[in-house]
Amino acid sequence: MISAIGAVSANGMIGLDGWLPWDIPEELAFFEATVAGAALVIGRLTYESMEIVPADSFIVTSQRDLVMKPGCRVVNSVEKALLTATATGKEVFVIGGASLYAAAWPYCQRFYLTRIEESFHGDSQFPANIPLDQWEIISDERETYLEHKSGKPVVCRFMQYQQPQVRALPIILD
Ligand SMILES: NC(=O)c1ccc[n+]([C@@H]2O[C@H](COP(=O)([O-])OP(=O)(O)OC[C@H]3O[C@@H](n4cnc5c(N)ncnc54)[C@H](OP(=O)(O)O)[C@@H]3O)[C@@H](O)[C@H]2O)c1
Repeated sequence: MISAIGAVSANGMIGLDGWLPWDIPEELAFFEATVAGAALVIGRLTYESMEIVPADSFIVTSQRDLVMKPGCRVVNSVEKALLTATATGKEVFVIGGASLYAAAWPYCQRFYLTRIEESFHGDSQFPANIPLDQWEIISDERETYLEHKSGKPVVCRFMQYQQPQVRALPIILD
């Protein structure tokens, strides 16, 4: 199973200054619990923002000489990253950022998307090309948490979407 996971604000933002536009520990904890033990496919910029990167993480970059943290592998295309991550036998999660979601969504059976029902200033947007409005909603749960930067409560809508027609991964010969 290949899934994507992320969080987006009401005005479509996912990132600010290389990190998240908000500070909601419970939402981050949900992300960590959901991807625990999975193989991760990560864009190079998002990878660089992470303090701890779990084993079986596949970092997508056009660079070939990047020195990686232990357990991480450099992969030069999104498709190859998904294939090598799948070959671990683990569940696979695409964890962002925007460029990875935009390229990987056709191969994802599910998208775990937390909709944060508040607008935030950001510099990285959720890609407009992902047709989630045509995917089936299989889970939708609301919680209210304190957003620590503003000190205000925000509603987090934990949604799971299922894609009706998933694209098969290509065969890549090395
Ligand atoms: N809200 C959320 O759930 C969430 C989740 C994850 C990240 N984020 C945020 O999103 C922002 C980062 O997103 P981003 O889109 O700017 O960066 P990103 O997707 O994390 O990384 C972009 C880099 O990935 C590599 N890449 C992407 N597509 C590639 C391809 N097809 N082939 C080869 N390499 C490819 C390139 O690396 P090279 O330049 O090395 O070639 C590119 O510069 C940050 O603010 C982060 O905190 C938010």
